[in-house]
Amino acid sequence: MPTYNLKVNGEKQVVEAESDTPLLWALRDNLDLVGTKFGCGIGQCGACTVHIDGTATRSCLLPVSALEDKEITTIEGLSENGSHPVQQAWKEVDVPQCGYCQAGQIMTASAFLETNPKPTEEEIKIAMNGNICRCSAYNRIQRAVAIASE
Ligand code: FES
Repeated sequence: MPTYNLKVNGEKQVVEAESDTPLLWALRDNLDLVGTKFGCGIGQCGACTVHIDGTATRSCLLPVSALEDKEITTIEGLSENGSHPVQQAWKEVDVPQCGYCQAGQIMTASAFLETNPKPTEEEIKIAMNGNICRCSAYNRIQRAVAIASE
């Protein structure tokens, strides 16, 4: 099986996988970074969102073979001990119900706030629109993103 040199959360990792293995499975199965979740596997739900060179990206669609020169950040590498402003706001608003989608939501929100640090409510709604929450905690999610931007 081929090997790929990945840079994940600032560390070099060698992953042995088929070339079309989605990053999601390399993270979870090869590197034991299980904070990134599998939801749909077809790019529709956002549960698997990570940052690739700072951009929120769905890891279920990305083959490991396309990622050798990229900076990959997962929820485990977003901050020290959950100290990112989005994670702090998440706790303040008590966002999670089942919690399954939250890593993807937080990765989408944190990348969004890098590009738009002072968004309007409408901009937050649009930015977070592609991340599905099966508990429908959308109001709390949007409130947390707004607080993180303050
Ligand atoms: Fe990747 Fe749903 S698991 S978008």
